[in-house]
Amino acid sequence: MNKKYRKALIVGNWKMNMLPSEVKGYVAALRGLLPRQKTCDIAVCAPYVAIPALIRAARDTRLGIGAQDVSAHEGGAYTGEVSAAMLSDLGLKYCIAGHSECRRYHNERSHNVNEKVVALVNEGITPIVCVGETEIERSRSLTLDHISYQVKAALADLTGAQVRRCVIAYEPIWAIGTGKTATAEQAQEICCHIRSVIRKEYGARIARAVCILYGGSMNADNAAELLAMPDIDGGLIGSASLRPEEFAKIIAATAQEEATA
Ligand code: 13P
Repeated sequence: MNKKYRKALIVGNWKMNMLPSEVKGYVAALRGLLPRQKTCDIAVCAPYVAIPALIRAARDTRLGIGAQDVSAHEGGAYTGEVSAAMLSDLGLKYCIAGHSECRRYHNERSHNVNEKVVALVNEGITPIVCVGETEIERSRSLTLDHISYQVKAALADLTGAQVRRCVIAYEPIWAIGTGKTATAEQAQEICCHIRSVIRKEYGARIARAVCILYGGSMNADNAAELLAMPDIDGGLIGSASLRPEEFAKIIAATAQEEATA
């Protein structure tokens, strides 16, 4: 983390976990475990149906709230979809766009991700744009090209000022839910590359300000090492975010890093 230019951000992605009735207990537990020092922003991206319960439970906390996906369409006859305007009406701060699970299971393409990012930005919601390579792409040395393409495609048509307000999450697909974390050096290499892609497209001032997260089997044991890297500004955490004790330890790791930097 480079705290001179960016604030750390720790985001939980609950994926398709957590019943609405479980949310109150989760937030109460997390609240009791949060470090007093506010060394990072924190948020949880919840399933749509859990969001109202999360808003109620998190009312007096510093927990930001996000969704996990959004429709690319503004509104109308799109059964089952949820628009950016609906998320904005609930007061949400964040929404994930282009998670590898959505790309894979919903056949989402980079231009769809771009449409979602534009829809979110237009509603004042911070997109958390996910990019990442497969194991095969990595083994064929295609990682850097693939990431460049995904970043440029997701941010197409945005102004520099809009890009500055986006969050990018590097999530190598081979590390998601597998227990195989990228090494801190591997993650730093790609997060630094993402920043250089943004620098080339939008200039140094914007690149310096953009928050870049790492995601993929991040947990209480490996968080401090990953967060110590200069271009990793936080984490997008799946399974470890479901356990308040573990999530709180990852949040606390943003302070440890500052102490050792
Ligand atoms: P895991 O932390 O469970 O590997 O999931 C990472 C992820 O996909 C977050 O969006």
